[in-house]
Amino acid sequence: MPLHNSIRVKKRHPLIGAELTGVDLKSSLNNIIFERIHSLWMENLVLVFPNQSLNDEQHIKFGSQFGELEVHPSQAHRSSENKEIYRVSNVDESGNIIQSNDTAWQYVNLSWLWHTDSSFRKIPSKGSILHGIETTKKGGNTLFSNMYEAYESLDVSIKKRIDSLYVMHDHDFIIRQSRHLSKKIDKGRYDSLPPVCHPLVQKHPVTGRRSLFLSPHTMDYIVGMKRNESRRLLDELILHATAEKFVYKHIWENDDVVMWDNRCTMHAVEPFDNTSVRRVMHRVTLVGDNQPISIEIP
Ligand code: SIN
Repeated sequence: MPLHNSIRVKKRHPLIGAELTGVDLKSSLNNIIFERIHSLWMENLVLVFPNQSLNDEQHIKFGSQFGELEVHPSQAHRSSENKEIYRVSNVDESGNIIQSNDTAWQYVNLSWLWHTDSSFRKIPSKGSILHGIETTKKGGNTLFSNMYEAYESLDVSIKKRIDSLYVMHDHDFIIRQSRHLSKKIDKGRYDSLPPVCHPLVQKHPVTGRRSLFLSPHTMDYIVGMKRNESRRLLDELILHATAEKFVYKHIWENDDVVMWDNRCTMHAVEPFDNTSVRRVMHRVTLVGDNQPISIEIP
């Protein structure tokens, strides 16, 4: 029996998301298993690996097999022991729920908004791998949208209108969307990141498929368009791309590991009572291989 046949695959949604069992993420992946996981990832966009009790070093080792890992710009959310671990958590490293007036609590709240990871970078991340350490029972699930399908299902006239457009993305735009943070003088400590310009429609470097490149938490405006027209068009596209039919809702269990492709998905966290319910999630983020590729207009 070929080694990769030990992996069992179960679709979690008709358009996006599959569960993989029969693989231990703690072990080094041989080439056959790596290629099998990679091709299932390209096919399903989001992979769910249940029951993977990884420590952070094992998490980093698993992620590193897919490429270099980013260090998140928010200094308050990096693990003090492993800088590649981004703590998407309302609990601090001493185990206490962070106070709601703290910039770290307010920043992590912004992951509730739809986004693709690191869209504020010139080369955005190609994928992310999230380990659910303390997961929630009421809310706090993660929604993933299939951006290939969102693009393909648009009317031809809209495609024509948007295919050659570019959008300015800005890390500061995330902060401006927080009612609390935007009013503060101390907004937290972040590595400095200038605004960047990305195509609104991109071609996937591996699959060659076209997708909408939306990241509502960093998208400031469409280049060359009046602000109100730009806002209206972006909001229309966001509404379209987050329709239920394109979205897989991942209901977390402790020790789920979820891996997604940032080049053809976006995600958001379902609100939960983050003043009293603990949610501890550790993420590693894969550095992208290239700037987003715009599509050639015939
Ligand atoms: C993220 O935004 O990358 C984290 C998603 C989550 O916490 O479920």
